[in-house]
Amino acid sequence: MMSTIRPRQADVLASYDRGADSYETLWSPVILPPAAALVPSVVRTSDWVVVDVGAGTGALHGTLSAIAPTARLVALDLSANMLRMARTHRGATTVLADALALPLADSSADVVILAYVLFHLADPAQALAEAARILRPGGRVATITWAWERGPCAAAVWDQFLTDANVPPAPLRCVNAGLDRPSDVAALLRSAGLTTEQIRCERLSHQWDPPAFWKLANEAGTNGIRLGGVDAATRTDVLARMQAGLTRLAPRDFLWEGEVICAVATKDVARRPARCRPLPGRTGRSPAGQGTLRVAAMTSARDNRPLVAELPVHQPIARRDHRSMTAGHLA
Ligand SMILES: C[S@@+](CC[C@H](N)C(=O)[O-])C[C@H]1O[C@@H](n2cnc3c(N)ncnc32)[C@H](O)[C@@H]1O
Repeated sequence: MMSTIRPRQADVLASYDRGADSYETLWSPVILPPAAALVPSVVRTSDWVVVDVGAGTGALHGTLSAIAPTARLVALDLSANMLRMARTHRGATTVLADALALPLADSSADVVILAYVLFHLADPAQALAEAARILRPGGRVATITWAWERGPCAAAVWDQFLTDANVPPAPLRCVNAGLDRPSDVAALLRSAGLTTEQIRCERLSHQWDPPAFWKLANEAGTNGIRLGGVDAATRTDVLARMQAGLTRLAPRDFLWEGEVICAVATKDVARRPARCRPLPGRTGRSPAGQGTLRVAAMTSARDNRPLVAELPVHQPIARRDHRSMTAGHLA
């Protein structure tokens, strides 16, 4: 049963926009292996269209390119700062958009990946419904969610120092309830018309060294937001006390552990896709009223299916527009 308390999109976005650097250098390498291991299960042919929803800094781009060098890879995310890294570090084609309203045509993708994204969303079922909508019948979706995660003791110490200094808690940005058991994930996929092909759990652990932990603790998005909520003098004082407190901890206090649920599901062939609309070449205003649309259709390499069009603007497409457009924002 999906929890009714879900993260607010603005909080999630603010934390990733703020913490893109530390995500890329510190956290992404820790959680990448299970996601990379899923790719061969879903990407089988080079000329496919693969949409990485919530692609972040494009961590999967290298694996995807190695397995399918000529595939059309689209890295879609709501955080402009995360996507900037996907472009500059990995040369990814990026689309700034909401996972809950994908600016992509029906049946336009062969594969959709949602790695470490669903638990951030206000409506994970809607994201899967959108994934199913843009998948062709027989296309595959891969998801990764947390079964559980146990932060290092050092993180609890860090939190306690801030709580003792009356720093307000960080905003909620991750809710695992309803996504933390294989049966729940399979049920959610099923509700979107997706049949689970494989689902497995994998344990992860990471031994932080104190300097890396310190950097992550201070620079990760939510922590940065939390620290940003106090005046400079209080922050300096709390940070000094926290650093002294952390030096008293043992190496085991810096051990992080977690378990992920990795799932692959197929869009039922019997489920009739909505009819693809013709992709018009057109010029107009962006949904946000800024910038001229230059709609140059990107089509799938295989059969010219409309995929996404180029919009040289940087606003997410408004929800009301996404079904009437076969266009997306190339961020
Ligand atoms: C934990 S990161 C995962 C990034 C990438 N999939 C990976 O495995 O490294 C979660 C990503 O989801 C993105 N995200 C959160 N809410 C989103 C939404 N509503 N639409 C699109 N992306 C979203 C965040 O901006 C962030 O980049």
